[in-house]
Amino acid sequence: LVNGELKKWTGQTTPVFSTISSTEKYTPTLLGSIPFMGEAEAIEVVESATAAYNKGQGLWPTMKVVDRIKCMENFVSQMKTTRTEVVKLLMWEIGKSLGDSEKEFDRTVEYIYDTIESCKELNSRGSNFSKVQGINAMVRRGPLGVVLCLGPYNYPLNETFSLLIPALIMGNPVIFKPAKHGVLLLSPLLEAFRSSFPKGAINIVYGRGREVASPIMKSGKVDILALIGNSKSAIALQDQHPNKNRLRLVLGLEAKNPAIILPDADLDLAIQECIAGTLSFNGQRCTALKILYVHESIAEEFNKRFAAKVDSLIFGNPWEKSVTLTPLPEPEKPHYIQELIHDATSKGAKIINEKGGLHTENYIFPAVLFPINKKMRVYHEEQFGPVVPILTFKDIQEPLDDMAESNYGQQVSLFGKDIKTIAPLIDTLVNLVCRVNLNSSCQRGPDVFPFTGRKDSAVGTLSIHDALRSFSIRTFVASKDN
Ligand code: G3H
Repeated sequence: LVNGELKKWTGQTTPVFSTISSTEKYTPTLLGSIPFMGEAEAIEVVESATAAYNKGQGLWPTMKVVDRIKCMENFVSQMKTTRTEVVKLLMWEIGKSLGDSEKEFDRTVEYIYDTIESCKELNSRGSNFSKVQGINAMVRRGPLGVVLCLGPYNYPLNETFSLLIPALIMGNPVIFKPAKHGVLLLSPLLEAFRSSFPKGAINIVYGRGREVASPIMKSGKVDILALIGNSKSAIALQDQHPNKNRLRLVLGLEAKNPAIILPDADLDLAIQECIAGTLSFNGQRCTALKILYVHESIAEEFNKRFAAKVDSLIFGNPWEKSVTLTPLPEPEKPHYIQELIHDATSKGAKIINEKGGLHTENYIFPAVLFPINKKMRVYHEEQFGPVVPILTFKDIQEPLDDMAESNYGQQVSLFGKDIKTIAPLIDTLVNLVCRVNLNSSCQRGPDVFPFTGRKDSAVGTLSIHDALRSFSIRTFVASKDN
């Protein structure tokens, strides 16, 4: 979708890379393919988005807020009619379970309506300063410029749209490149995007990063880089901008969220939450629990019950209701998880659940690894998949020191009952991460809550309210009282 037109690109990419095919992951069956763009086409896109920003009156960035809101309302009402198709594609292309796929769709529709309300509220709040030192000022919040938006495969609607929708509604022209896994699932929405927004406001492009995202960055015409993914890609793209100091960043990156299970924790609750935290959507969530610290006095009991619970989970196709574990969309993921398991077991860890590590071509059963130490890759790397590392601690200072040393700082889960122990811990934990979850697993929602992280985990803040600010700037008209 470029400059208001749905195009079939036949550009300069070599034939072997000119399309990407997508398969349904369980059987697997070919679903279809999408043409990839080349460098020249990418430049055309960034030029049309820049023109949409610069050409002035009547176009998206200068349109009245009420009119932009009407466009967004039109889009969301068309989007609702695509639910069945999009939910199917979420299950087929990225292996998300039926319940989670429906939840993602509905949560996204609600997110758009809430963003519209928040935008109306921001707009109506009034922005006139009373006269200050003889000057009247009328302040408004407006767009910053062209946004390059890159979304993740694991939340192609909800998390991707938590960048795209606020960027768009604030008047920025957006170039959006979906992730390479799940390339088809936005196709039912392309016509809704095309018919709801004026030319150039939203461009949706397909292609390899180096053939599409790189030339767009190198053009120097991007004002905001909005990306949810890994820091390596974010840094590489940022470095390609000829004027990177003026680039605004909105980034959601890696995390290694720990759970700390204190001696007096309710074990049933802790196990239930840690199962959901580590393994919902096979651990492919930036907010997933990626390492468990269990107090040594309860470790034996916790490990035994946790491992049995993991083995009771059912692997199968995403549209069967009893299924929790589903095929992995990244073909290289089972091999990567195997490498982590091998590395840990060769350095002294054991797989403590019977089914751990059993695999097929597109799946690997979650392995619970114990005990983990700092020499192992799984201690440091964000596994983003079905493997659960566990280690014990004697003194609470041990996990706190590890968190302080970590490159990441998104969230933590803390399980325990004694408020006299927990209260002072919270004060320390909130200075290490951005959200402390008491007796519950980590998560991003509800979408009104600020979503961010410290250190290498994030730049900028997302949420219904915060994102409108992240994607805008306050400008004003000043006049002397004469
Ligand atoms: O992958 C990262 C997402 O922000 C996770 O969102 O906690 O709602 O599953 P969630």
